[in-house]
Amino acid sequence: MHDDDQARPAEAYPAEQREAIYRVIAERRDVRRGFLPDPIPPDVLGRVLSAAHQAPSVGFSQPWDFIMITDRDRRERIADLARHRRDDYAADLPGARARAFDRLKIESILDTPLNIVVTCDRTRGGRHTLGRHTQPQTADFSSVLAVANFWLAARAEGLGVGWVSFFGEHELATELGLPAHLEVVAYLCVGYVSEFGAEPELALSGWAHRRPVAWAVHAEEYGRRGLPGEDSVDPLAEVIAAIAPLDEQAVAQARLRQDMMTKPRGSLGELEEVSIRLAGLAGSCPPPLPEPACVAVFAGDHGVHAQDVTPWPQEVTAQMVANFLAGGAVVNAFAAQAGCEVTVVDVGVAADLDPVPGLLPRKVGHGTADFTAGPAMTREQAIAALTAGLEVARDLVAAGNRCLLTGDMGIANTTASAALICAFTGADPAEATGRGTGIDAATYARKVDVVCRGLARHQPDPADPVGVLAAFGGFEHAAIAGFILGAAALRVPVILDGVIAGAAALAAVALAPAAVGACIAGHRSAEPGHAITLSHLGLRPLVDLGLRLGEGSGAVLALPLVQSAARALRDVATFDSAAVTNK
Ligand SMILES: Cc1cc2nc3c(=O)[nH]c(=O)nc-3n(C[C@H](O)[C@H](O)[C@H](O)COP(=O)(O)O)c2cc1C
Repeated sequence: MHDDDQARPAEAYPAEQREAIYRVIAERRDVRRGFLPDPIPPDVLGRVLSAAHQAPSVGFSQPWDFIMITDRDRRERIADLARHRRDDYAADLPGARARAFDRLKIESILDTPLNIVVTCDRTRGGRHTLGRHTQPQTADFSSVLAVANFWLAARAEGLGVGWVSFFGEHELATELGLPAHLEVVAYLCVGYVSEFGAEPELALSGWAHRRPVAWAVHAEEYGRRGLPGEDSVDPLAEVIAAIAPLDEQAVAQARLRQDMMTKPRGSLGELEEVSIRLAGLAGSCPPPLPEPACVAVFAGDHGVHAQDVTPWPQEVTAQMVANFLAGGAVVNAFAAQAGCEVTVVDVGVAADLDPVPGLLPRKVGHGTADFTAGPAMTREQAIAALTAGLEVARDLVAAGNRCLLTGDMGIANTTASAALICAFTGADPAEATGRGTGIDAATYARKVDVVCRGLARHQPDPADPVGVLAAFGGFEHAAIAGFILGAAALRVPVILDGVIAGAAALAAVALAPAAVGACIAGHRSAEPGHAITLSHLGLRPLVDLGLRLGEGSGAVLALPLVQSAARALRDVATFDSAAVTNK
């Protein structure tokens, strides 16, 4: 380049070569089925290994090694190790997931002529390896990049590769006689295949779905999502815009089918309406079974706790979160019975919580402010909590769930719920306020007064749902509202728990009226505000047992009813098909 020349970008590959690159990236598959016994010629294998060996590596340390395994006895021992771990994993899964997992093939150790173990030597290159001194894990990342190169080159050669990770690190290392300083990064099963799937096998089986790329790209700061060249995505606005009414044709089909099923018309009562709603939501009759299902328990603390509205100390919120995560709460027991997964989301617990599997850390603040003294949260916080909730819904649906359930935990959250219900429905605080976990007359009178003072102070405008949430809401109310909107946008049913979910649903429906189509009222809580809420939303509860626990317990109890409603619509014969005489 001469000084006076304008620097020009280096040349791109010609179009068809670029296409080939993108094609191999798009068509690379994790292959587990359809392997052929044909041996892999050494020159082909050599090319693929060289491609792997050209991967980038931290400080050019090239920490990988490739161990070629063909011996049948050894592969059988290794397959045994994987089988045991598979069984351990399966034993831990909720019902519908366990059944789906049972149908999946997760390894091809004995079906492929070759297995390759890719290792990482974290010591290679010595102490001063450039880059690794601050981030030791970059050694492992480098070996993973070698795997990626291998996988792509193999696809171009027509070779299928399946990555198996069902091993205890030490048992596999022992079987391979690995020196102690080497880590196993990948176990690959490699061979020719009859075909490559058009989509990832886990997507074809409905186990999980691909997230849109726009969800994964952020401008400047985490959370400002959007693709380059496009306006940055406002997830809340996007979700609200995506919410549409029930599909009328599917609704009509479902209604007709209910009338033709071998049972007296209307004899399934409210379950017929549920099945029709599920069909309208899915846009198909019969609708898919609402399983797997996951209850998300959103936890947050409330500044209004300072007003002595409950005898329970605030730290119980964090303690119950620990209980959910340890599997010891009522919601866990009910979920185990119903085959439902439990996820706990910290959107605003006052205490800092330790990271534990099953806990999603999405804290917007350390508890809200006291709404008798000022707004419970800022508008920005309300939007952040709404967004956290809708993203949890998206993630759970991308993970393959076809039914979402709301749960909540937050000491003092019935007080915030009462205020929200009054704000959205215009109900009288004396009628909408309940006794929560059980309080004496003096505390109850104080609680009603607190709600009245809050309403007088904030003069809420129900046409401004974010403002109402910010005035009174818990972080969990706002997040549950977002969760409902997220589910509705993806046309996945969401079973509402009690009064906290109801208050949140009022906010969600105020933001997007058609979201009510995705909502199924799991139960009616003993809290008086809940009945007001359900009639405002036009929802009929499935279970009415005087429950007043929260946690998602009532929603989980209703899950088998919702699933039965869908199954009836799908499986019950019609008068014609079963040759039963209609009345
Ligand atoms: C680190 C890693 C470990 C994996 N472990 C397994 C495994 O143990 N069993 C399995 O069936 N698939 C495994 N996979 C494959 C993924 O399920 C697969 O890549 C994903 O579903 C996307 O499908 P695709 O690779 O065909 O695009 C693994 C993939 C990666 C990247």
